[in-house]
Amino acid sequence: MDGRFGIIGGSGLYDIPGLSDASWTTVESPWGVPSDAILTGTLDGVPLAFLPRHGRGHVHAPTTVPDRANIDAMKRLGVTHLVSISACGSFREDMAPGDFVVVDQFIDRTFAREKSFFGTGCVAHVSLADPVCPDLSAACVTAGRGAGITMHDGGTYLAMEGPQFSTRAESLMYRAWGCDVIGMTNMPEAKLAREAELHYASVAMITDYDSWHPDHGAVDVADVIRTLQGNGTKARDLVVALARSLPRRCTAGCATALTHAVMTSPDQRDP
Ligand code: ADE
Repeated sequence: MDGRFGIIGGSGLYDIPGLSDASWTTVESPWGVPSDAILTGTLDGVPLAFLPRHGRGHVHAPTTVPDRANIDAMKRLGVTHLVSISACGSFREDMAPGDFVVVDQFIDRTFAREKSFFGTGCVAHVSLADPVCPDLSAACVTAGRGAGITMHDGGTYLAMEGPQFSTRAESLMYRAWGCDVIGMTNMPEAKLAREAELHYASVAMITDYDSWHPDHGAVDVADVIRTLQGNGTKARDLVVALARSLPRRCTAGCATALTHAVMTSPDQRDP
């Protein structure tokens, strides 16, 4: 792989131990202040950049995560392949707490976040029909399985605003829609990664059954944290395995997503 391997880590993942030449770097962005400094270094000779999405100490709620600054900062550090790691709830019996899902579709129900780098002055519309990099996603599945993790290959992620968890009626509705998992952080991150022409994959770590399951009570933070403690170690194992097996080629157009996307045309503007 040419470029740099980036990771945005969610709840329970605030550090990547064992990096060579590790240092925390502050990156300035015109899109605001990123969630935290970014840990750079090399893992098995692969250049890596790690950003804790909520900041060390978990200071950002999902709504206040500065996604545009985060994606821009990773891009400025030369990240080409970005893996999102986050906690989620499950809508499926067979996707159990402790399992990981390599998400391949999203339904975005967030409503209080800045979702694009484009707007006034420069208008662009990227395709999100296939919102993740298939090759990077496949590498995540293989790396996770190699590390002994139960990995589900594909799933639809419902992105909710939060910070409260869903009502039981919402949970049942999302399940009826065919969603597989739910979380508060993958959107607009995935949209912005596409606009930034990054290869993006999302690994969602299941911590609970949300609130639809008749044999499990409503989700609460104590459950989530308990499962996250085990998931954090697994996520680090996945990152180490993945660094050794990042894809060399992309069969989709992730790195050229903007080629036909920009609508603003300087020649049609008044002089
Ligand atoms: N993160 C972890 N579990 C979740 C759930 N059930 N809903 C939303 N976000 C979550």
